[in-house]
Amino acid sequence: MKKNNKQRFTPGCYSNEIEDRIQKLRNAGAKLPPRKVLRTPEQIEGIRESAKINTALLDHIAEHIREGMSTEEIDKMVFDFTTAQGATPAPLNYNGYPKSVCTSINDVVCHGIPSPTEILHNGDIVNVDVSTIYKGYFSDASRMFMIGEVKPEIKKLVEVAKECMEIGIATAQPWARLGDVGAAIQKHAEAHGYSVVRDLCGHGVGIKFHEAPDVEHFGRPGTKEVILPGMTFTIEPMINMGTYEVFVDEADDWTIFTDDGLPSAQWESMILITENGNEVLTS
Ligand code: MF3
Ligand code: CO
Repeated sequence: MKKNNKQRFTPGCYSNEIEDRIQKLRNAGAKLPPRKVLRTPEQIEGIRESAKINTALLDHIAEHIREGMSTEEIDKMVFDFTTAQGATPAPLNYNGYPKSVCTSINDVVCHGIPSPTEILHNGDIVNVDVSTIYKGYFSDASRMFMIGEVKPEIKKLVEVAKECMEIGIATAQPWARLGDVGAAIQKHAEAHGYSVVRDLCGHGVGIKFHEAPDVEHFGRPGTKEVILPGMTFTIEPMINMGTYEVFVDEADDWTIFTDDGLPSAQWESMILITENGNEVLTS
């Protein structure tokens, strides 16, 4: 029997003009993302639906998060809200991850595991990172929340981290390079005296939780993959007040801390690259 297990891209999805442009870049030796990460119109519809639930979930958390709450309570909120929509929290049991959400406080860069004994205190900054599976489609986003009175210099870090994400989104245009995105983010962070975490990156998302390409938040313009219409990926810079060096908690093998104990802030959105720009799918 003849086997045809080649991933086919929906014919007619791209105009001949775009196909020609891709072919020219390929011939010129440019790095291109694999075809399987270029979404079909049906996939885009599914990813959009998943992303809507993910954004509604973050809005729900924004309404209820407060001082004195445990991160376990946030986890319960995420599980209950997501399952009530007929969706599944993507983190739960992902590579053995034990909870439905990541909650990362102060010097925790990312992947903090909710716990009943971890309480949100006045002055804390916390990243809540939620990811949803709906009808097989994945979405991913995070926001920072400031608990009570946050010191001005820490507030500034949170604001600049958000600007870094926004600058990354603005730079992620069709036919630009992923290196352009990283360079723009790094430039903004460093102009404020902050550093960009190197060991973790954004990623393709939609059909799987984490897929190609890696989206680094530092780098050089004109390097890495060409950004093509039909890609869906996250931009999620982790910005540190001090060194960009981080380490993994040996006890749980998940929680990522800053080396120097100084705070870190992160915002994450997921975007769809279109023929003439991009569409923010989660915020
Ligand atoms: N949501 C994270 C990201 O932005 C991934 C967390 S993996 C988990 O990519 F298992 F910790 F949830
Ligand atoms: Co992500």
